Amino acid sequence: MKVVVITGSGGLVGVEAVKFFSDKFDVVVGIDNDSRGYFFGKGGSVAKNIEKHLQEVDNYVHYPVDIRDKDRTDKVFGEYGTDIKLVINTAAQPSHDWSGRYPLEDFEINALGAVNMLEKTRQHCPDAVFIQCSSSKVYGDVVNKNEFIETETRYDFPTDHTYYEGFREDLPVDQSLHSPYGSGKLASDSMSQEYARYYGMKVGIFRPNCITGGPHSGVELHGFLSYLVKCTTTYNVFGYKGKQIRDNIHAYDLVRAFNEFYLDPKPGEVYNLGGGRANTCSILEAIDLVKDITGKTVDYVILDDPRVGDHIWWIGNNSKFIADYPNWSITVSLEEIIKEIHENAIQARQKVIA
Ligand SMILES: NC(=O)c1ccc[n+]([C@@H]2O[C@H](COP(=O)([O-])OP(=O)(O)OC[C@H]3O[C@@H](n4cnc5c(N)ncnc54)[C@H](O)[C@@H]3O)[C@@H](O)[C@H]2O)c1
Repeated sequence: MKVVVITGSGGLVGVEAVKFFSDKFDVVVGIDNDSRGYFFGKGGSVAKNIEKHLQEVDNYVHYPVDIRDKDRTDKVFGEYGTDIKLVINTAAQPSHDWSGRYPLEDFEINALGAVNMLEKTRQHCPDAVFIQCSSSKVYGDVVNKNEFIETETRYDFPTDHTYYEGFREDLPVDQSLHSPYGSGKLASDSMSQEYARYYGMKVGIFRPNCITGGPHSGVELHGFLSYLVKCTTTYNVFGYKGKQIRDNIHAYDLVRAFNEFYLDPKPGEVYNLGGGRANTCSILEAIDLVKDITGKTVDYVILDDPRVGDHIWWIGNNSKFIADYPNWSITVSLEEIIKEIHENAIQARQKVIA
């Protein structure tokens, strides 16, 4: 029997991973306690996504368990043992601002929870491939020390700049401001590498910037594109004149990359995987795109202060991943992503009315 364990199975990446892997494994084990609802309130809850898995995915088994809970996670992993061939750890507290308010709880989930998942894998299924969803935030604000050119709608690098096509994995990760979120993610990222190098496990680490897609339960504190498309009040732009650059990857393309790694693991490797230059936008450009694609005019205000430690510009350079996995490329464009989020929002509203 082949089992995949997906933590955070009700979240954005988790939903896509459940869909993608359900016909490739005999059993899909989802672990998610709807903490997103606890972090962000009703608008953030993923209960509807979990319900949908249970109704539509025949081989899906759900465990509403906290990834920090050593005993209960031990029982889940113990039940399937070495039948577990793949573990994807997407469960996390994902917001900078939330982590600033509750640093201890954030660290417990993002760092200790991740290590608990690595440890359960080591104890019960050490040959399984383990994917750690890390983040571009592990680099902290060192990226802001670059000189950018400023256009009417965005900050950018000149075309001959070494990072024009995106930041490579050669950036330093310390001696900069990360936010507690970024530091917690860095701790779990580093431990994930350690489980590959020290314990010899097949661990892969992915450091995306903005993951997005239709099922995202976007809220002001996390999931900017989803929140922007759905926002019915004034949208707050946090600093940088709205010209900060975000690199958007559809969760489906990210999960396809996980699958490439699963089929041919390269233990301990880290990848800055993102949507690439073609899928980037500034907040100002995103607001224009939403209008062009959906007809919706977003009422917005630009605040002076950026979020603490927020990046002015991020594009992840995909060339290391593509060199290792030449069959992979981006398949969902930014325009398609916005269209999908918009259509999902309409369907959700229609369901509420019905
Ligand atoms: N979305 C992004 O833009 C982005 C960017 C970079 C990195 N990441 C990372 O990618 C991963 C997935 O992000 P996402 O957008 O799918 O997040 P998400 O918030 O949509 O999903 C995370 C899921 O984990 C669950 N969860 C949280 N804490 C838990 C706990 N203690 N026990 C069990 N379940 C718990 C939540 O209920 C939620 O369903 C996270 O590790 C995040 O840090 C996300």
